[in-house]
Amino acid sequence: MELCSQSIRIHRKLDEIPTLESTKVRLFTALEDEDADLKDIERIIEKDPAMAAKVIKLANAAFYRREAQVESIHDAILTVGFDMVKCITVSMAVMHTFGTSTTVANSLWRHSVAVGVLAFGLGKDKPEKETLLSGGLLHDLGRMVLLYIEPDVYAPLFDDNYPDIDLEQEIFSMDHAAIGEIIAKRWHFPPEVVNIIRNHHRPNNRISALIRLVDCVVSEHDNKLLENPDIREDIDRIKHFLGSEYKSVVNDVLSKYNQGSALIEDFI
Ligand SMILES: [Fe+2]
Ligand SMILES: [Fe+2]
Repeated sequence: MELCSQSIRIHRKLDEIPTLESTKVRLFTALEDEDADLKDIERIIEKDPAMAAKVIKLANAAFYRREAQVESIHDAILTVGFDMVKCITVSMAVMHTFGTSTTVANSLWRHSVAVGVLAFGLGKDKPEKETLLSGGLLHDLGRMVLLYIEPDVYAPLFDDNYPDIDLEQEIFSMDHAAIGEIIAKRWHFPPEVVNIIRNHHRPNNRISALIRLVDCVVSEHDNKLLENPDIREDIDRIKHFLGSEYKSVVNDVLSKYNQGSALIEDFI
């Protein structure tokens, strides 16, 4: 009875989560439209100064190794590409909805950006890279939601290790993977991204296994546990989908993260 009323209470609060900022949704839809051209996208971004500033900042990140400074929206979009603009759009809309002003929300956002940017580099082709970037950025969407609807209960559970799914189940009768899935579906995120959000703690395909692996490596790195790079209980599931590739992924992600990728800072 107690469990049931708890989950009804959470569902009620989920119904109050606002929709994504409409200008960002318009831009996202335009980017999804195969007939949209650079001019259309430029026109929408021009009307959103924060978005324009972010795209230009990112285009000038060391990651893109440009010799000349990028100053126009036109050149910035050409430098970072439509896919990256799409991810910036979604990430800004999500940040706008939930805010990143508290220490916990800010650390969670940094964690999400690190997972997204590092996972992006593991994609085999353009669509896979895009899914890994958006999925990495949004994998812990449910945590952002819980921090928004239950800040007084959820925020104190964060220390070096983020609260695990069992603890969330115990307290809220739901966990952040299930909560993230509800909101991601409501916001019409692509099915592959919804699957990452739902299954990143129990990978069910190669993409969600890659996200889980990067998630673990980033978390363990940040908690200085990597003297013992042990992915613990997840390892069998991850290996099942990645095979022997998993070791090189760990090394690749670690070396990129250790280089302190400027892109992570520029994305925030
Ligand atoms: Fe998670
Ligand atoms: Fe995570």
